[in-house]
Amino acid sequence: MRAPAAASIQDQPLARRYESVRALSLALAAPLSDADATVQSMPDASPAKWHLAHTTWFFETFVLRDSVPGYRLHDERWPFLFNSYYEAEGRRHARDRRGMITRPTLDEVRAYRAHVDAAMAAALPTLGDDARAIVALGCHHEEQHQELLVTDILHLFSENPLEPALWPAARKVPVAMPGPVGWISPSGGIATIGHDGGAFAFDCEGPRHEVLLTPHAIADRTVTNGEWAAFIADGGYADARHWLSDGWAWVKAEGIAAPLYWEQRDGAWTRFGLDGRRPIDPAAPVTHVSFFEADAYASWAGARLPTEAEWEAAAQTHDANIGHFMDAAGPVEPRPATEGPAFFGDVWEWTGSAYRPYPGFRAAEGAVGEYNGKFMSGQFVLRGGSCATPRGHARASYRNFFYPHQRWQFTGVRLAKDL
Ligand SMILES: [Fe+2]
Repeated sequence: MRAPAAASIQDQPLARRYESVRALSLALAAPLSDADATVQSMPDASPAKWHLAHTTWFFETFVLRDSVPGYRLHDERWPFLFNSYYEAEGRRHARDRRGMITRPTLDEVRAYRAHVDAAMAAALPTLGDDARAIVALGCHHEEQHQELLVTDILHLFSENPLEPALWPAARKVPVAMPGPVGWISPSGGIATIGHDGGAFAFDCEGPRHEVLLTPHAIADRTVTNGEWAAFIADGGYADARHWLSDGWAWVKAEGIAAPLYWEQRDGAWTRFGLDGRRPIDPAAPVTHVSFFEADAYASWAGARLPTEAEWEAAAQTHDANIGHFMDAAGPVEPRPATEGPAFFGDVWEWTGSAYRPYPGFRAAEGAVGEYNGKFMSGQFVLRGGSCATPRGHARASYRNFFYPHQRWQFTGVRLAKDL
């Protein structure tokens, strides 16, 4: 199941791009039974069937319903089920009850996708620029849900005592242990970050603007499992000095003592992954850690998390398509970079920056204006993409965001320090 490097599908004509994105979603869900695709393992995660239907609802609602005269909804009851959070689209089913939707079945959701895909294929040549922009947004939206589909299934399978492997084939290449962290020392001063508005970007990535960077250094790679095991062995999870107050309360309340999916078996650390439970690879990037854990580790290591401006200033000269991403053959495991510095792929990197609007940010008019802006409260920015991010989806200006306790995504750590 290891994915070979492939050309980005982001550059394809819109109809071809639509087909590619839609096909990947079905391919990712292909190994799943109806039961696998229906159960919701926690409120943060959604059933695979819901992801498949919700991404379809997005095209049906914001393209077919809004821009194709005479289009009739596949089922008029389903928008209530598959609207995620768009207040402008009215009432909807509760997020934490998505696992109760045993009907429609997985096959009926696949039929929904086929119905909408046929209508989209017929409509695409007739659409104006505004509707085509929504189609492009819908493709990027579906790619975001492909990553969630993978990480939500991983969480679901982790709850099964049999610890099933979603993709059981070995997908790892032995790679030598990376050397000590190297430090990149930019000159500091004024840097320019944010998307310039040329190719596609989500609205929260702009406007492009200047920021002042104080003298600092940023690590040339992410923290490894081996380094994280040393943090654990040194009592890192039991030493309040390293933890933010909210993080320490979370550790105590939840009994946190290791990254999500780590367990000690016969005295050695193992982790649960898409290929089942295996010993941790000390050379691989640590993943499934929260912002709280990332910050505590940085404190223990005598460093800090980079700001998102520091990260972007360092990463924007690197090729965002080079790295371990998800391709048509499926996701890969996070793997150590064979040549550094690598800023993209493997694991999302927590930054110390709050997810807030850039100067001059304005959300779009209408329902799609709810896409990003209304979530700019209480969350932290992550950068770089992960092994479950579709290749070509990430870029230097890309801002992912999660709450500080969340860690079921492929989330890791890059250090920075003041000079
Ligand atoms: Fe969505």
